[in-house]
Amino acid sequence: MFLRDHWYVAALSSELTTKPITRQILGEHVALYRVASGEVVALADQCPHRGYPLSLGTVVGEQLVCGYHGFTFDCAGTCVAVPGQDRIPSRLSVRRYPSIERGPWVWIWMGHGEADESALPDTPWLTDADVWSCVAGVATIDASFDLLVENLLDLSHETYLHSGSIGTPEVSTTPIEVEVDEDARVVRVFRHMNDVVCPPFYSRTTGLDGHVDRWQDIDYSPPGFYLLHARIGPVGRPPMPDGSDNHAFHMKILYGLTPASEGRVHDFWVLARDFCVVDREIDAFLAKMQTGVVQEDVDALNVLQARTQSAPEFNEVSIKIDRGGLAARRLLAAMTEAALSS
Ligand code: FES
Ligand SMILES: [Fe+2]
Repeated sequence: MFLRDHWYVAALSSELTTKPITRQILGEHVALYRVASGEVVALADQCPHRGYPLSLGTVVGEQLVCGYHGFTFDCAGTCVAVPGQDRIPSRLSVRRYPSIERGPWVWIWMGHGEADESALPDTPWLTDADVWSCVAGVATIDASFDLLVENLLDLSHETYLHSGSIGTPEVSTTPIEVEVDEDARVVRVFRHMNDVVCPPFYSRTTGLDGHVDRWQDIDYSPPGFYLLHARIGPVGRPPMPDGSDNHAFHMKILYGLTPASEGRVHDFWVLARDFCVVDREIDAFLAKMQTGVVQEDVDALNVLQARTQSAPEFNEVSIKIDRGGLAARRLLAAMTEAALSS
């Protein structure tokens, strides 16, 4: 069962043009595109006439023309023209999903009631281009949503799975602290690695060589939003008591976790940094590194999903590093139960 009354990332802003794309989200096929004015539109990707995918249609001005028999839909999903007749049957409309564009991401509301804009995750780093530079991407994984959540909540795997880029021995050996804010519905995982080797991902981009203080503070807001506050600073110089931290480098690593179907999940990511702002070479370096890191996760989760499916009698064993993932599981289970009983 999917948690529907939430915002999920549906697309990268850069993916959307007047040529529609199709994406499966929470089991539903969605056509995503821009009309001539630039507005993003998300419609159910099935023409109500004979069911042809609307994503194979053509945008003409502010409307979408079905690629099969030319029925035409406005941005609200209402059919406004039918070839060969004036009368338009009233049932000829498709669902429009509420969507909001914020920097590199386009969010979608998958609930059937009114969209709750106040529930849209706050992402100021994605829209303040004077202070933050962003690179973004997406991968789709043949694994369950839960496997991706647990992958991201336990970064100790960096040491082993991402050893060439972000994984150093201290990631897996440094203890974590876990907090669950039940009211705000956030799982927090803190890992502060002090006086440790700076991995290539950060040494190349910050210029800090040798040892650094490296902090990884996760805020996971289930179901679909994960935020990692990464701080790289000189050894022994934490943020000032007033919170200012100008001597350190900061990266916000955002993931949008969007179920495609039961065994498939979209993994949207953004790296937003407050250093080397508007440096295209650093953009390219980070995009390449992160694409490699994500691909390592994709490969691992594809294998893990296949293996867990073919060995259903397997009983997992959890240890201290799993506390964040287990907290996320509990919160997701409680949300699912609440959704089922509402
Ligand atoms: S299926 Fe779309 S117009 Fe016929
Ligand atoms: Fe990973």
